[in-house]
Parts: sequence; structure tokens; C-alpha cells
Amino acid sequence: MNGGFVLNPLRAVDLDRAARLHREAFAPIGERGWTRQDVAGLLASPGVAGFLLTEATFDIGMAICRVVADEAELLTVAVDPGHRRRGAARLLLGAVVESARGGGARTLFLEVGADNPGARTLYDSLGFAVVGHRAGYYARAGRPAADAFSMRLTLS
Ligand SMILES: CC(C)(COP(=O)(O)OP(=O)(O)OC[C@H]1O[C@@H](n2cnc3c(N)ncnc32)[C@H](O)[C@@H]1OP(=O)(O)O)[C@@H](O)C(=O)NCCC(=O)NCCS
Repeated sequence: MNGGFVLNPLRAVDLDRAARLHREAFAPIGERGWTRQDVAGLLASPGVAGFLLTEATFDIGMAICRVVADEAELLTVAVDPGHRRRGAARLLLGAVVESARGGGARTLFLEVGADNPGARTLYDSLGFAVVGHRAGYYARAGRPAADAFSMRLTLS
């Protein structure tokens, strides 16, 4: 059920909420979560757009992407651990795709950890294809760095 989800652009007043969502989503996979300053720095960069998904008074998820010329990059997507498998990421990525298209992008790229099969399944289901492999790309707390796959979705 996802009838109660509300999607809005990520605004400057949402920085703490976005950083908290990021931290709590990524901590379990051993990845350093972003700070308020990290999110603020990104949102202030050219071509960057963010989205915040809420339901009633709860923050459910966030996503940030960047468009440069005709290429877009998914910088992050994070969903609260208590609200997963309800279609939140699918909704957020739909907004990212629309925003990227609107900004003139023809392709959308992302990196996903080889140790993150859930996210990989999500991207596969949306039509992303693996186009590269980066050894030791993600630092992981308490264990060896993880490889990443680069993935691409054609938008046009
Ligand atoms: C990956 C993540 C964003 C998915 O969020 P979500 O809201 O649970 O995803 P959705 O409910 O929209 O899932 C859509 C589809 O993706 C796939 N999927 C998502 N999570 C999955 C998982 N853990 N295992 C297997 N498939 C999964 C399924 O096909 C799912 O459809 P279904 O539920 O009908 O089977 C979330 O688990 C998360 O925040 N993880 C930590 C941060 C992270 O890894 N971000 C991505 C970094 S590249």
C-alpha cells in the first residue's frame, strides 16, 4: 500500500530530515551516512535536484540526482528501514527519471555496491543495465571495501 505517500522537492529546510534518512538507511550496510552539510553542499551544486517522500508525519525516503548536459546521475536513494518494500524507492526513482528527462538528460547513471543485492534488484527491475565494474569503490565500516557496478538507463 502506498496511497499515503507524498512526494515533494527537497528544500533547504529539509536538510536535517534528509541527512537522518540517509544515515539510518546506509548505516546497516556499513556506509558512512551523509551529514546536513553534505546534503546542503550537494543541493547547492548546479544541476542537482532532490526529493523527499513523506507519509502523514513520517519521513519515508529521499533521493538526489544531478544533470550535467545530457547525462544524469543518481547520487543517492534512501528509504527508512521501517518502510521498505512498499514502493517508496520506485516512486522516488520515478521522480528522478522525470526530473532528469525534464533537465535534458538522455541517460541516467548510478553506482551500486556489489554487496547490495536488494538495490541491484530494484535497478534491474527499472531497466538499468550494468555497464561497468569498479573494484573497491565503496568503503565499508569494519570490513573490506566493496566493489561497485556502474549501471545505465536510457531515457530517450
Ligand atoms: C534499496 C532501497 C532504496 C529500496 O527501497 P524500497 O522502498 O524498499 O524499494 P521498493 O519498495 O520501491 O522496491 C521496488 C522493487 O525493488 C526490488 N527490491 C527492493 N528492495 C529489495 C530487497 N531488499 N531485496 C530484493 N528486492 C528488492 C523489488 O523488486 C521491489 O519490488 P517488490 O517489493 O514488488 O518485490 C532501500 O532498501 C534502502 O534505502 N537501502 C539502503 C540504501 C541503499 O542501498 N540505497 C541504494 C544505494 S545504490
